[in-house]
Amino acid sequence: MVTLETKIAGVVLSNCIYNASGPRCTSPKQLIELNESNSGAILTKSCTENMREGNRTPKYYSNEMGSLNSNGLENLGYKIYSNFPYSIDLKKPYIVSVSGMSVYENINILTELKDNERVSLIEFNLSCPNIIDKPQIAYDFTLMDEYLHIITHTYNRKFGIKLPPYFDPFQFDRAAEIINKYPLVKYVTCINSVGNALIIDTINETTVIHPKSGHGGLGGHYIKPIGLANIRQFSKRLRKDIDLIGVGGIYNGMDAFEYILCGASAVQVGTCYYEEGIECFERISNELKNIMREKSYKNIKDFKGKLIEI
Ligand code: DHB
Repeated sequence: MVTLETKIAGVVLSNCIYNASGPRCTSPKQLIELNESNSGAILTKSCTENMREGNRTPKYYSNEMGSLNSNGLENLGYKIYSNFPYSIDLKKPYIVSVSGMSVYENINILTELKDNERVSLIEFNLSCPNIIDKPQIAYDFTLMDEYLHIITHTYNRKFGIKLPPYFDPFQFDRAAEIINKYPLVKYVTCINSVGNALIIDTINETTVIHPKSGHGGLGGHYIKPIGLANIRQFSKRLRKDIDLIGVGGIYNGMDAFEYILCGASAVQVGTCYYEEGIECFERISNELKNIMREKSYKNIKDFKGKLIEI
């Protein structure tokens, strides 16, 4: 029997494949759909203290290579996500992504969430690229260190963080050095979209999205090699009790297999989930199971992190 069961930060997921924060996880209806689906967990859209409408449309574009988005943190406000799990029969871990607009906002949100026993984990987002005039926290290492210090003292429960893509060994060294100082950080999700990318409509000679002069977060096939490299680099640098979650360009079972080979304990699906809808979780899970059967692997530990360097 092949199983996709995994653990992140000590929380058991019956399936290591679930949704990325972003597409189709904003409304209670979408979260209920995830609860009923084959997704291994329910992860919410990154939330802020108050409801936000986000950036002006058009703010999402996709082609056969991937997607460009500048949603601008459109969400219903953290109270909806905090109360949501009490209204349904939760069938799997419920994870809330938090991305307050300031340190104070984050403290308020975390203070509310910390006593909510129906929230299995939080994923603290240090890497949103789409807020006009706000930098991605995790590209400023001093700021990231301060944020982690404050969260650790406010939240007081184990948590995970979502990182942007890094590109240089120095960045991996520095980020890992900071993260390793905080024992409550028990998982790291990487990568967020490649921020501030530009796609052009050559027929009309225009940008394809409106916000930030057309610049947005790049996802999908375009970014898989960057995501794989980030998982691999962090798997060599982070404390052994920190689990890695891979995201970026996962469309099929082989993509998931590659991320796990690099060291991921679970994977998230973003662009493909946006494009294909809820059915993608069953399809990708079956594909991954078939690959494991062919290779005589029974569970993901049999190949997790075992990439051979030639
Ligand atoms: C948004 C995009 C992100 O990549 C992210 O991490 C959080 C929010 C957004 O545009 O809504």
